[in-house]
Amino acid sequence: MRVVILGSGRGSNAGAILAAQQEGRLGEARVVQIFADRPEAPILALGARFGVPAQFLDPGPFKTKFDEAGETRYLDAIRACAPGLIVLAGFMRILKPRFIAEHPQKIINLHPSLLPSFPGLDAIGQAWRRGVKITGCTVHEVTCEVDGGPILDQTAVRIEPDDTLETLEARVHAAEHALLPAVIARLSHSRAAGP
Ligand code: GAR
Repeated sequence: MRVVILGSGRGSNAGAILAAQQEGRLGEARVVQIFADRPEAPILALGARFGVPAQFLDPGPFKTKFDEAGETRYLDAIRACAPGLIVLAGFMRILKPRFIAEHPQKIINLHPSLLPSFPGLDAIGQAWRRGVKITGCTVHEVTCEVDGGPILDQTAVRIEPDDTLETLEARVHAAEHALLPAVIARLSHSRAAGP
């Protein structure tokens, strides 16, 4: 299963996916390309580290969505990779229906809360400020409803009395780093096996 990763920032989850691949924990999945929507995004450095092509692709002038030309640029570049799975690993941009329709059931997203709680930006901060005792992370299929597609898997993270926002963030990220490669490996097996 050919995997394309889209990211915007640090790339710690893309790094976890590539480390899992290196250690033989990614099933039948193989990362073939990383695309980032910011030229300075640290995720791009993973390309050289893991021997995977990594490239900045201009998304257009908007901050949280594509313009038409940017969307076409991404769709063309992704099509050329012939992916079986597209992983949004910290990709901070909303995909429009045309994008999603070209890859039905093939796009998954990682979100740092137990959806449907705390969709949108700063999910860990939202959970922290709301004072919930359990939060976590979710991997879900991407549909036209933002952060609303079918949930593939989740990990719960308990908020301890001595947590700070920083320690909580670190534990949610650690949970993400385990969850996302495991879901990709599982999908690679189930999709290879067919319906
Ligand atoms: C992750 O915590 C991911 O859940 C979040 O961005 C971070 C990316 O970190 N994604 C979202 O909030 C999407 N709505 P990374 O660049 O280190 O992988």
